[in-house]
Amino acid sequence: MDPQEKLLASLNTAISGATLKKLVLSRPSDKSIIRTEGRIYNKEGIVLQLETHKTDGKVLHKNLPASEAAEYVMSLLGDYRQINLLTTGGDLEARLSSKGKLLVSGKVGSGEAVELSHDRVKKVFLRDGEVYPFLIALGVSDEKGRVFDKKRAKFRQIDRFLHYIDDIYPKLPRGELYVLDLCCGKSYLTFAAYWFLTEVKGRTVKMVGADLKQDVISYCSSVAEKIGFDGLSFVCCDIYKFEPERRPDLVLSLHACDIATDIVLTNAARLGAEVILSTPCCQHEINSQLNTRSELGSALAPVLEHSLIRQKLAVALTDALRCKRLEASGYSVDVTELIDPENTPKNLLIRAVRTQMSERRREAARKDFDSLCSAFGISLFGGNGSDMTEPTRIIYNKEEN
Ligand SMILES: C[S@@+](CC[C@H](N)C(=O)[O-])C[C@H]1O[C@@H](n2cnc3c(N)ncnc32)[C@H](O)[C@@H]1O
Repeated sequence: MDPQEKLLASLNTAISGATLKKLVLSRPSDKSIIRTEGRIYNKEGIVLQLETHKTDGKVLHKNLPASEAAEYVMSLLGDYRQINLLTTGGDLEARLSSKGKLLVSGKVGSGEAVELSHDRVKKVFLRDGEVYPFLIALGVSDEKGRVFDKKRAKFRQIDRFLHYIDDIYPKLPRGELYVLDLCCGKSYLTFAAYWFLTEVKGRTVKMVGADLKQDVISYCSSVAEKIGFDGLSFVCCDIYKFEPERRPDLVLSLHACDIATDIVLTNAARLGAEVILSTPCCQHEINSQLNTRSELGSALAPVLEHSLIRQKLAVALTDALRCKRLEASGYSVDVTELIDPENTPKNLLIRAVRTQMSERRREAARKDFDSLCSAFGISLFGGNGSDMTEPTRIIYNKEEN
């Protein structure tokens, strides 16, 4: 079988036989394209969805019925110099040589059908080109709703965050929602979350954004007033001292600097927030404590030798300990990536949902926390780091002033 025929037959087998895990078209001739990825889903029969990622941040979708999909992908050869087929029956790579010759390696045999979802088309809450007064007021888009290039990454980030709010939405109680965004900064996320909960979900929401900076708080307050977000207010304060008017239903925090993330998590857990969504920022406490004297010390020497590698270990330990502290407080915790990791290294999202966790599991989390600290010779968060009921003042040995 010649390479063209082999590629076409493999595409047909993988798509019609539903064994395709992923299709990747790379090395595009059009420099405005990064790559195109394809996956199958079920919509009255198998459909191949192609997702083209562009350098300006746009993502274009094209859906093809199985009967047309393989031929269409073949027609893209030339526009892309490489096609990779990942299937449950083996993988195949097709490359165009510099002389334009098609070289095919690997094999796609029969494999198990993948589980087909009924709708692979991604939910999008915020659409570029649609008018949202809050995005216009915040300078993210123009009057026609077109997102400014320099704000595209922020736009994607907050849209993604809304997906995570949508995921945990069933965990939120009925009645008026009380939501906090701690260390809200210029409050793109705060406005987006308020818009989402009130206008998409139709809820009555009281939301407070808190930040140290008076200028951003004044600015955000004036924007909220201007666009009529009546339930949204802003306070200028150190979140370390912030006392909400009642137990929050949802606490959000995006890139709260340094130990501010820990203050957010500690306070949110101490107040018994129903759900906490936090994307941590950098934190240096552990990095400065790592040394070769700890239990793991000598074995760790090659990791600690290079500051960039050492930092990665410190970040991983910090976030793992944050999760354990939340578990010790009765939260069910998971960690995911906020957006495409190409966009920012500070991309981890900690999702914590309050549960009726047994004392035994909480105790186990406390023990895990203590073991990890002692293995690495770390003394974080003061004497009893896993106790989230401690006021932050004690945890950080920070004096009241
Ligand atoms: C990197 S910015 C993130 C802002 C916003 N959440 C975002 O993602 O666009 C961090 C913000 O945390 C605020 N911040 C840091 N420590 C704080 C504290 N102890 N209390 C209140 N705000 C704090 C800073 O003023 C800054 O606006």
